Amino acid sequence: MKIVETPLEMQEWALKKRGQGEKIALVPTMGALHEGHLSLLKEGKRLADHLVLSIFVNPLQFAPDEDFKEYPRNLDADLKKAESCHVDIVFYPKAKDLYPKDFQISVAVDILSQFLCGQRRPEHFKGVVTVVLKLFNIVQPHVALFGQKDYQQLRIVQQMVQDLNLPIQIKPMPIVREDDGLAISSRNRYLSPAERQAALSISLSLAKAQRLVDEGTENVEAILKAVSATLYETKKVKIDYITLCDPKSLESLSHLKLPALLAIACFIGTTRLIDNCILR
Ligand code: PAJ
Repeated sequence: MKIVETPLEMQEWALKKRGQGEKIALVPTMGALHEGHLSLLKEGKRLADHLVLSIFVNPLQFAPDEDFKEYPRNLDADLKKAESCHVDIVFYPKAKDLYPKDFQISVAVDILSQFLCGQRRPEHFKGVVTVVLKLFNIVQPHVALFGQKDYQQLRIVQQMVQDLNLPIQIKPMPIVREDDGLAISSRNRYLSPAERQAALSISLSLAKAQRLVDEGTENVEAILKAVSATLYETKKVKIDYITLCDPKSLESLSHLKLPALLAIACFIGTTRLIDNCILR
């Protein structure tokens, strides 16, 4: 496994492999690798001749009051995990190389960024797709893998590929959960034991919604009410949003139309967690 730090070296490698007709898979991450990331890497390995993992805590996607500074960074542990997934190249750029002083061009996201997390984090997705487009240009992947855990991010990347005619296949990957149902996230480590217990209400509330649909409930209000009641049971959860929406446009549904995306963001203490499921 090789570590490449400069965009130029990475791009030269990628163009050479492409020229030899070899296929490249990219898994973009911000490091602090966990089982969710590893599931993307394992699938990426299966899909291409070369697997590239990028590790970059992207300053552009954090608002000034967010956890950019505290975001967990542990390169040594990440490299061990990457090795275990047979990653070929770890692209580990420096911020000054991706964003030189005169950096000024970015990707604007319109409608899809106005819903869900975009309401609270208005500049977040612009920062995400700008770095993702840069990574695509540098790593030149044939296929890139993204988790459904960050559903809105996945949708916006898919839309970017469509709208900007990028010759890249986007492979969506299912949410990896702990045994008790909590969606795995780098931010779970911020939770105290009591908060970790309270966080279980998120996946429980998603399951509750699917149960209601299975039982024939079609009333959107009733489903949303049951979800918030389950979340509030623990008294430690502060709901940011609960949205039942169209999985493609992300527009809220007033009448249930399946499949539908049920997405939740909430604060447990100061930690903001997100989760979702597709109701069928
Ligand atoms: P990060 O949060 O490190 O996530 C990297 C990838 O792992 C994303 O595609 C995310 O959806 C996926 N992922 C995280 N937790 C998962 C889980 N429990 N199950 C399945 N997949 C999971 O998302 C980012 O980084 C950044 O925004 C990035 C795309 C790298 C741009 O900076």
